[in-house]
Amino acid sequence: MIITIFGATGRMQHLLIQQALDEGFKVIGYARTPSKMSIQHPDLILKKGTMLDRAAIEEAVKESDAVIETVGCVSEGTKLIIQAMKKFNVKRLIVVSTTNAKDKNDLPDKKFNRLLTVTRIALKFLGLFNSQYRNAVSELRKIAEIVRMSDLDWILVRVAGLTNKPKSSHVKSGYLGQGIIGFTTSRADMADFILSQVKDNTYIKKAPAISS
Ligand SMILES: NC(=O)c1ccc[n+]([C@@H]2O[C@H](COP(=O)([O-])OP(=O)(O)OC[C@H]3O[C@@H](n4cnc5c(N)ncnc54)[C@H](OP(=O)(O)O)[C@@H]3O)[C@@H](O)[C@H]2O)c1
Repeated sequence: MIITIFGATGRMQHLLIQQALDEGFKVIGYARTPSKMSIQHPDLILKKGTMLDRAAIEEAVKESDAVIETVGCVSEGTKLIIQAMKKFNVKRLIVVSTTNAKDKNDLPDKKFNRLLTVTRIALKFLGLFNSQYRNAVSELRKIAEIVRMSDLDWILVRVAGLTNKPKSSHVKSGYLGQGIIGFTTSRADMADFILSQVKDNTYIKKAPAISS
């Protein structure tokens, strides 16, 4: 099976690609700076491009069986990926998202609401609650809507905070307000869960939140 990963050079993405290669997938890693990729493997092909380069995106997607979008901040790029997938009849799309993007299956969750308030206060205190931050959150929400509107076999994987802890034996998945999901997910668990979604049909057209 061939999977294309957009945003291939990130920290979680390195773990994802290594695990995918270990499990026998062929991987096309799409990145604006492929030189940041530290994995070399005969089954890993790197493609250079921006999230707005229609031709490069089509080239990266056309042979794929599944696409994983991990950039999460360029909604126009997500649109191009979806258009390319439709053009080449690629159905499975897994997209990284955030618990900031609410889902209809979420219930009111005091714990997460408190986290949002504390984060906002901390960002204001640090001078980081600026237009750049607000734009990033707005793009993430836009991406979630664009993905939901597509008729692909999409899965939005929502996380809160990421850590570099090791892989745990069981990643929790579900919705806010059920007492299941915690604040943090290790990048290793995130990679593990995302890769499992390439073949698992449980969350098709759904937006589970996950945590370690
Ligand atoms: N950190 C958190 O707490 C948190 C919370 C919720 C969701 N997430 C999401 O979880 C994913 C993994 O996080 P991470 O911290 O492991 O990743 P990361 O190390 O920050 O890597 C992000 C990747 O996205 C690429 N990228 C960023 N902006 C881009 C743009 N405008 N165009 C093209 N590529 C772009 C980067 O490319 P370059 O190497 O070229 O910069 C890099 O490969 C990310 O999608 C992140 O948004 C993170």
